[in-house]
Amino acid sequence: MTVGSERVDGTRQWLRGLEVFAGPLPEFDPATAPADPVRLFLSWLLEAVADGVRDPHAMTLSTVDSAGDPDARVLILKDVDASGWQFSAHAFSPKGGQLACHPRAALTFYWPQHGRQVRIRGAVTPGTAEDNAADFLGRSRTARAASLPARQSQYLTDPAERDHTLEKSLALIEAEPSLVDSAWTTYTLAPAEVEFWQAAKSRVHTRLRYERTGSGWERLQLWP
Ligand SMILES: Cc1cc2nc3c(=O)[nH]c(=O)nc-3n(C[C@H](O)[C@H](O)[C@H](O)COP(=O)(O)O)c2cc1C
Repeated sequence: MTVGSERVDGTRQWLRGLEVFAGPLPEFDPATAPADPVRLFLSWLLEAVADGVRDPHAMTLSTVDSAGDPDARVLILKDVDASGWQFSAHAFSPKGGQLACHPRAALTFYWPQHGRQVRIRGAVTPGTAEDNAADFLGRSRTARAASLPARQSQYLTDPAERDHTLEKSLALIEAEPSLVDSAWTTYTLAPAEVEFWQAAKSRVHTRLRYERTGSGWERLQLWP
């Protein structure tokens, strides 16, 4: 097999030779973890930003469709607070449809330079019309124009039709800057559990899961 300009004898062997957890990896002592997972998440995110991790606020959103089949894609984190992790999307997109029929999801962050993963699971609720409108209006004009046709993930058969439609949407937004797409939605995933995973070169990775107990959190370590 040839990859770029390099000859690779076998894909399996080539993959095995790729490095993972190159580090230097930070220490994570679960005994010092705060009682609140949002605090720990924000401290890991701040460290990722400080150390130049690319797209540190990108996360994988996993959902389930009406047949029970899983689906996943990368989204941008919009906010996080005591109510949960927030993202936004078009309600008519596949993910929007999946969340409407099964409003539960998982989020996964991975910060490679630190060998850190965060996994969050819980129920998802859409925002209020005011929240949704504020988020929509906070997006760039081109981003707003791109969502207006409400055709995300549909088959694209005619790129010229797409370009023409997007030009018309942009003109509409420019003529009416306060125009809001009522299907644009902010979603909040309220965490039932949050796991912090710290890689170690020894492969004895450290894992700490917060599980919700009524109004508080129980902290449990997991086998690697
Ligand atoms: C780094 C990155 C950030 C993205 N952010 C968003 C986002 O915030 N909202 C969104 O709807 N799609 C975002 N996308 C595109 C989604 O991954 C996906 O392709 C799109 O939303 C269609 O997904 P669906 O067909 O499952 O609904 C992003 C993609 C990448 C790679």
